[in-house]
Amino acid sequence: MLVPDLKEAKIRTKKESIVKANEYIINNELKSLGKDKLYFLKTYGCQMNEHDSENIKAILEDMGFSETKDMEDADLILLNTCAIRENAHNKVFGYLGRAKNLKSRKPGVLVGICGCMAQEEVVVNKILSEYKWMDFVFGTHNIHKLPQVLEKSIKDHKLNVEVLSCEGDVIENIPVKRDSKSKAWINIMYGCDKFCTYCIVPYTRGSQRSRRKEYILEEVKDLIKDGYKEVTLLGQNVNAYGKDLDDNYYMENLLEDVALTGIERIRFVTSHPWDFTDRMIDVIAKYDNIMPYIHLPLQSGSDRILKLMGRRYTKESYLELYNKLKKNIPNCSITTDIIVGFPGETEEDFNETLDVVNKCKYDGAYTFIFSPREGTPAAKMKDDVSLEEKEKRLYKLNELINKYSKENNDKYLNKTVKVLLEGVSEKGEDTLMGYTETMKLVNVKAEKEYIGTIQDVTITSVKTWSMDGELRR
Ligand code: SAH
Ligand code: SF4
Ligand code: F3S
Repeated sequence: MLVPDLKEAKIRTKKESIVKANEYIINNELKSLGKDKLYFLKTYGCQMNEHDSENIKAILEDMGFSETKDMEDADLILLNTCAIRENAHNKVFGYLGRAKNLKSRKPGVLVGICGCMAQEEVVVNKILSEYKWMDFVFGTHNIHKLPQVLEKSIKDHKLNVEVLSCEGDVIENIPVKRDSKSKAWINIMYGCDKFCTYCIVPYTRGSQRSRRKEYILEEVKDLIKDGYKEVTLLGQNVNAYGKDLDDNYYMENLLEDVALTGIERIRFVTSHPWDFTDRMIDVIAKYDNIMPYIHLPLQSGSDRILKLMGRRYTKESYLELYNKLKKNIPNCSITTDIIVGFPGETEEDFNETLDVVNKCKYDGAYTFIFSPREGTPAAKMKDDVSLEEKEKRLYKLNELINKYSKENNDKYLNKTVKVLLEGVSEKGEDTLMGYTETMKLVNVKAEKEYIGTIQDVTITSVKTWSMDGELRR
């Protein structure tokens, strides 16, 4: 048994990560372990978890399992979890209740969790005392060991916890089964060293480890060969890409080299306002295949709160960067993340946030009420603002965000824009959905043969969160 350790998860050393190109190993016995069996995988959290799930699916299918979308039919239930806010926790424990019920009717079913919650000491302690009926827990650092973890669970018939608190390596040969045939996630770095005081990610994902450019560029080239139109470069702080390596090769260099592969669309998330260089802005502006869309989390507009959050920028420097982006990247859309009700946030602090929103007029925003995460510095800060007050602030903020989102979308009416049609829309079988270069969701009446193509679409009606359009044939 290997359980997570919060103290160990905080440690950062200067050592460079080691690239391991042969670490995922699966023998013939493991390859038949899932024969004629079904797995049910549910994913919570951010794009990184979505992408990890694409790896997990490929590994499980390598073991002979097939996917089912119905938990009731499954022989293996796996929840890939997120730890970012308390409600993410609650959802997972709620789901585990349902899985327990199923296991009592079908005792052979294996139930386990992985992902960020699995990296938390408090969660694993709770599982060890209250969820002993579960079969396995593994973390974000040993996804490639999933076959061995499952083998042990099947043989031992008891709860098997294998979570490493100390990462280190970058594993390059994990298989992947992508959800989309037209757009792909590519990890360019793992972990985070920023330690914003409210955030659990540096503990659950470990220290920053950038992937070597050769592997990233190879992956992009393979995707082009397979007909992919879009790649999204993933990391908690993509602007800091390469700072942990020794080859003076940074985000601007990587963006340029990816642009030169000729892939039609390049996106990247998330950009921390810190580390956003002028060189990066130049490269984004220079290449047409780097999409004019930037997610630039603000978190708060108050300098006092930003300092308490450990964000290392001020309202003024954020606005300066924002204006530079808008000026240099034509038609650039910008979205953000905002936390309300950070410990001790006053009405005045909150008004500073509203002031930034009024100045930036964002295309969209994810807004959250502060959620204390055990082990982070902010969880220990004095918090005298009531939940009722925080909810009021969130409501007021969302009203403003929605207003600007609609105003920005209105500018698209009757314009013709390029949309990568990704698949069938929730609106119905005769409608496809896709995104503009600026990341606006568009629904278009079109035949399925258009899926996976980029089309000129004229926008015919506009809502707060999406638009409708017609193909220009
Ligand atoms: N790496 C990204 C953020 C990843 S987490 C960045 O630094 O920009 C996604 C968002 O969740 C954050 O931007 C923040 O707004 C929110 N978040 C993180 N921790 C939170 C917490 N403890 N309570 C509420 N929201 C939180
Ligand atoms: Fe969390 Fe801050 Fe790292 Fe983003 S930069 S993942 S908010 S610690
Ligand atoms: Fe959640 Fe982990 Fe992503 S905490 S937001 S799944 S990095």
